[in-house]
Amino acid sequence: MTGVLYGVGVGPGDPELMTLKAIKAIKAADVIIAPKTEKKEDSVALTIATPYLKEGVQILKLVFPMVFVQEELNDAWVNNKNTILGLLAAGKKVVFLTLGDPMFYSTFIYIYKLLQGSGYPIESIPGVTAFCAIGSKLGYPLAEGNDVLSIIPATASTEKISQALATADNVVLMKVYKNLDEIVRSLEKHDLLDNATMISRCGLVDETITRNLADGVNKCQNYLSTIVSHRSV
Ligand SMILES: C[S@@+](CC[C@H](N)C(=O)[O-])C[C@H]1O[C@@H](n2cnc3c(N)ncnc32)[C@H](O)[C@@H]1O
Repeated sequence: MTGVLYGVGVGPGDPELMTLKAIKAIKAADVIIAPKTEKKEDSVALTIATPYLKEGVQILKLVFPMVFVQEELNDAWVNNKNTILGLLAAGKKVVFLTLGDPMFYSTFIYIYKLLQGSGYPIESIPGVTAFCAIGSKLGYPLAEGNDVLSIIPATASTEKISQALATADNVVLMKVYKNLDEIVRSLEKHDLLDNATMISRCGLVDETITRNLADGVNKCQNYLSTIVSHRSV
């Protein structure tokens, strides 16, 4: 039997936001891969998927260092790639868990690219993205009519962020954790601060919602934090 690799989106936190297709793949898996960026941290994606795990399923917690640490990238990523190839060669159904959607700012994208030419089938099963769940949680329309919505990683250059903030009607800022001060100043400069709301760990038990970013509250951010805002009309 041929091994298959599934990138499975588990949504941003609430296990009830997983698709039937995602649950089916998880239940049928021989091996579940739970990616982490550091050894010590827990896998949030695994926690979300836990209610649907088959008893006795093999779980591999693999560390995928942040992409920008080039030296670490090589060894760890090559080892992980070989581990997955070994499982596929043994005919296993391998599920690679992803927070939110697998094709949206995720580690699975790199694995997908690395294994694309390997000859094994790879399927991506979409998930609810964090920003979509946040729109619903806040009762906040992300885009309507002719609105232009910009999705901006706060890790991008100041210039790139500034360009996007200057032209968008609505914005979603992802990966807001290390440079919240700078992001708040940029939002203010582009008249987007008054309507900004930050939500951390949406759908998880310790979710927080911060509506007044101008007050400088909640500076110590969790990595799973997103800001949404829109221009006043
Ligand atoms: C590497 S990206 C993963 C995006 C994910 N693939 C998706 O579809 O939403 C990580 C960023 O997603 C956002 N994020 C993911 N889960 C979140 C959650 N539960 N609450 C708030 N933001 C979240 C944060 O901006 C975080 O820094």
